[in-house]
Amino acid sequence: MNNVEIAKGVYFVGAVDWNVRDFHGYITPRGATYNAYLIVDEKICLIDTVKKPFAGEMIERIANIIDPAKIDYIVTNHIEPDHAGALPDILKCAPNAKVVITDKGREGAIKYFDCESADFQVVKEGDVLDLGRNKLHFVPLPMLHWPDSMATYLDTEEILFSNDAFGQHFSSTHRFDDENDIEEVMYEAAKYYANILLPFGRLVPKALQKAGQLPIKLIAPSHGVVWRTHIAKIIEKYCDWSAGKAQNKVVIAYDSMWGATEKMARRILDGVASVGVQGKLYRLSVADRSEVMWDIMESKGVMIGSSTLNNTVMPTVGAMLFYMKGLRPAGKIGAAFGACGWAGGSQTAIEEFLCAAGIELDKSGLTLKWTPDDKEMEKCFEYGQEFGRRILER
Ligand code: FEO
Repeated sequence: MNNVEIAKGVYFVGAVDWNVRDFHGYITPRGATYNAYLIVDEKICLIDTVKKPFAGEMIERIANIIDPAKIDYIVTNHIEPDHAGALPDILKCAPNAKVVITDKGREGAIKYFDCESADFQVVKEGDVLDLGRNKLHFVPLPMLHWPDSMATYLDTEEILFSNDAFGQHFSSTHRFDDENDIEEVMYEAAKYYANILLPFGRLVPKALQKAGQLPIKLIAPSHGVVWRTHIAKIIEKYCDWSAGKAQNKVVIAYDSMWGATEKMARRILDGVASVGVQGKLYRLSVADRSEVMWDIMESKGVMIGSSTLNNTVMPTVGAMLFYMKGLRPAGKIGAAFGACGWAGGSQTAIEEFLCAAGIELDKSGLTLKWTPDDKEMEKCFEYGQEFGRRILER
């Protein structure tokens, strides 16, 4: 097991989960990492832990550096079990360690991990913990990702341990951004933002402002690579994503029972493209919903199509609509389309969800009966053109 010293006296002691593909509903084709960091100073401090199945791996990494019993502090930036799941395991090995945590974190940790007897040290904004050569400064970031979330700043080494913020679900043998394919890393960072942080975008500027006041050599999140070369780039991207910046692009996501809605989707796509707007087509029975969500975040427009099934949408489309409603992509325009036999229903259902997701609705919608004839295929093309033009006007 290789130990990686990311800065003087600061070690990666987390775990790489190469094989996870479904992270509570987020599809992770490149796996994930659970980053924990050990600071060896006059005091010994562990920053976060790992998902419980990886507790042994983390403890082994720590034991390669120091006796785990010497740990003085375990900073728990976030109690979600991908970061704090191994807290009970490490507490058994480090019985004298104080758990440094926010008030909300303490409340949740006791329930999740049955650790009421732990020695908690509750911290708040501005609190400082002296480790010797370094001091830790605590920066609560409520709702990035849960109410307990915080970042921790190590001053002498100028490292921001940002927890979920700036993370990516990306497994690799190499810990730094510049040691990996940066295009892949940036894509996964964008996908992570779209699938995890998007609903909390309004809170991001304040967090960036706090981070902007600190000299930062490394951003060490709790998922994926450590940022050292592309710090400015990832901060700029967070500014763009939180501001809802998007491209002249339309995502067309649909499912189809017998091919009629699929024909509509393809012809609408032709119409969108014909006015110079890029379109992306996703059939939801085979698409990765997390990738679709990333593309929706990056696009100004989203068109959702479904055959009518039992007066509503197909189950695959329903799942996407529920997922999108929770993530609330801001600043988009949207439209519904689909084919039906006798009574429709899919268009209304889609439009309700688009509105609930905070998407500005193109009121016209497009529902066709049975399967589109030539004239109706032309109507689909024109519908795509009109939608594309609305994108260009924004
Ligand atoms: Fe990576 Fe909110 O946990």
